[in-house]
Amino acid sequence: MNEAVKPADAAFWSRARRHLLRYGGNFVPFVPERAEGAFLYDAGGRRMLDFTSGQMSAILGHCHPEIVATVRETVGKLDHLFSSMVSGPVVDLAEALARLVPSLPRVLLLSTGGEANEAAIRLAKLVTGKWEIVGFAQSWHGMTGGAAAATYKAGRRGIGPLMPGQYAIPAPNPHRPRFPGIGWKQELDDSFALLDRQCTGNLAAFIAEPILSSGGVLDLPPGYLAALKEHCRARGMLLILDEAQTGIGRTGQMFGFDRDGVVPDILTLSKTLGAGLPLSAVMTGDAIAAVADEREFLFYTTHVNDPLPAAVGVKVLEIVARDGLAARAAKSGARLAAGLRQIMQRHACVGDVRGRGLLLGLEFAGHGGRSAGEVSEAVTAAATDLGLSANIVRVGASDGTMRIAPPLNVTDAEIDLGVELLDRAIRRATGA
Ligand SMILES: Cc1ncc(COP(=O)(O)O)c(C=O)c1O
Repeated sequence: MNEAVKPADAAFWSRARRHLLRYGGNFVPFVPERAEGAFLYDAGGRRMLDFTSGQMSAILGHCHPEIVATVRETVGKLDHLFSSMVSGPVVDLAEALARLVPSLPRVLLLSTGGEANEAAIRLAKLVTGKWEIVGFAQSWHGMTGGAAAATYKAGRRGIGPLMPGQYAIPAPNPHRPRFPGIGWKQELDDSFALLDRQCTGNLAAFIAEPILSSGGVLDLPPGYLAALKEHCRARGMLLILDEAQTGIGRTGQMFGFDRDGVVPDILTLSKTLGAGLPLSAVMTGDAIAAVADEREFLFYTTHVNDPLPAAVGVKVLEIVARDGLAARAAKSGARLAAGLRQIMQRHACVGDVRGRGLLLGLEFAGHGGRSAGEVSEAVTAAATDLGLSANIVRVGASDGTMRIAPPLNVTDAEIDLGVELLDRAIRRATGA
């Protein structure tokens, strides 16, 4: 930050550097002391507009009063239980989720996205009796064993062997087609033809995000999911959809797959389901659940089906439905996308604006002798300085896509402020 570091800040950062193990690059030079709605505030009262909903999760904004009340009330009554006990909030949430996706009425509640994908992959292996897993080359599914082995965006180096039998195919990228002139359908068909040659006849599942968020906000084109499901069906594979970021209204519909009308065999939800609190879910159909029962599916964790996060999930779904937040995300997303497109027209360093609902990406291009990565880093730093939190994901060696995903209840004024701050940040970073 440009501002002089206060003595207290220097002491804070020295303690942080001394005692925190780094896990993913640098820390943001802003220390929130409290959060409310779409804003974070530091101890000096400086505010930061949170355009990533924390880690793409806080869809109701921070410290939503009804979520605060639910946590207070539940933790004083029923906090954590022996993992084989079930309680009211757990069944309530499973039932509410099943109402949203009637063909996937069997629900397992866990804590994180990685864990939900881990369980989904384990379930797919057990039920199909096979063990090869396919994902997209730009995917992110989590940091635990099976989920990490299906994650190709980052994190595959320096940790020894991952799971055997993992394959990746490229996700389509209309802004940067790998083979210009070749459509997504041809690319998908070719990828599966290649998979057929590489695999050992043990393909268990394909795991996919409807919009690859960490991969650069790559929205699978309409028709893609149906074609992917057909490829899976033809090979006796299950389709797992990971809606960590796209689920619960983010895209302008309740789930990303709603646009395509393609229900997966297994659906995982996380981040947005707890609106920022640790809650995830695995959902599947009765037939898969029956085979899993018969084969004694095991996914026994300390916090499986815990009542406290489940109560939060029930409240989140209630608020999203009551306040029409999916439709609101569609409307607010259109306003935000229009603002971002104006920014693209004004600044040569912006190459593309894409996404759906309130999950948008703004891709930078090289400018003024600087690479896209350098431009995007300079813009992010300027935005932080100006009071806007948005983060950059790297797509390729030199590209940078800014991920923008405000809370679903963001106001028009907050959207306009975010667009204005981003415009100023780009001007500051590029000297335009
Ligand atoms: C699509 C997707 N799936 C899974 C995960 C992993 O979730 P968690 O970090 O809660 O384990 C992430 C995290 O960014 C994600 O973006």
